[in-house]
Amino acid sequence: MPVPPAPPVPIIIDCDPGHDDALAIMLAAGDPAVDLLAITTVAGNQTLAKTTLNARRVCTVAGIAGVPVAAGCDRPLVQPLDVADDVHGASGLDGPRFPEPTVGVAPEHAVDLIHRILREHPEPVTLVPTAPLTNIALLLTRYPEDAARIREIVLMGGSTERGNRNPAAEFNILSDPEAADIVFRSGVPLTMCGLNVTHQALATPEVLARFTGLGTELGQICADLLTYFASTYRELWGFPDPPLHDPVAVARVIDPGIVRCVEANVVVELRGRYTRGATVVDLHRRTGRPVNARVATTLDADRFWDRVVTAVCALGRRAERIGVRPAEGP
Ligand code: BDR
Ligand code: CA
Repeated sequence: MPVPPAPPVPIIIDCDPGHDDALAIMLAAGDPAVDLLAITTVAGNQTLAKTTLNARRVCTVAGIAGVPVAAGCDRPLVQPLDVADDVHGASGLDGPRFPEPTVGVAPEHAVDLIHRILREHPEPVTLVPTAPLTNIALLLTRYPEDAARIREIVLMGGSTERGNRNPAAEFNILSDPEAADIVFRSGVPLTMCGLNVTHQALATPEVLARFTGLGTELGQICADLLTYFASTYRELWGFPDPPLHDPVAVARVIDPGIVRCVEANVVVELRGRYTRGATVVDLHRRTGRPVNARVATTLDADRFWDRVVTAVCALGRRAERIGVRPAEGP
């Protein structure tokens, strides 16, 4: 007898689109292994107004309807906002042309929406933050009882090695280290997909060709996003192909076999003169500090890209069936 597929895992994506966040949203909405309950936004790659507009743009072109989009915190808990326009451009999603979004914004603050979903959903929900952890830290601080209703937090951020925003720190953690500290110390089951694993998700020319080869408007938008992302990665870091960070966290929820992890203690450096925002990962258990995270180490890149391309293919075909209009004119 064939084994019936497992029921989809209920998830909420907390994001700051962002080129790779855009693909993370599409993967979550287009893959049947997860049930995307909400998309919440936070300031990070760009201002909150821009990341929220971008989430609505992505939902519009991908035909994602019926998934609430809610705006959250517009600045980090302690420090001022420092956006990544050098990586994602002035809009936060430079490259493709987007039509006027037809998807609206929910009236609730993101933190209240997450709280309500956690309370109302019949089973614990997995949170997938792909941005600074401000909303999640606020949730855990304002509603500590919600910790028990979170199945797991699977986040993109940090690294077992070096940073990208500076030599020590990765962007999402450095953008709000106090929030990251609260999340890593929360006791909620946590998986960290850091740069060491996301740098294995390289959008090569062959990957780009798979998106254009889908022959849909959405496939072309993904190729345009990745082409822009490639240009900034080449210019800033000398990468021949850009790493697609955020969908790796979604892929880990979809099929844990795609992203191999080890257990370790992770703490966030809050005070270092040159290392604030670094994730200090005790891979070899030298400190005696207790395990508080699964730390992603290895990506099955072929299975990862198959899953992303298949999701974009499904969404693109559905969007064309329901008549989503691409942006018009030059
Ligand atoms: C992370 O930083 C952002 O610029 C990306 O969207 C990703 O979430 C990578 O360091
Ligand atoms: Ca992001």
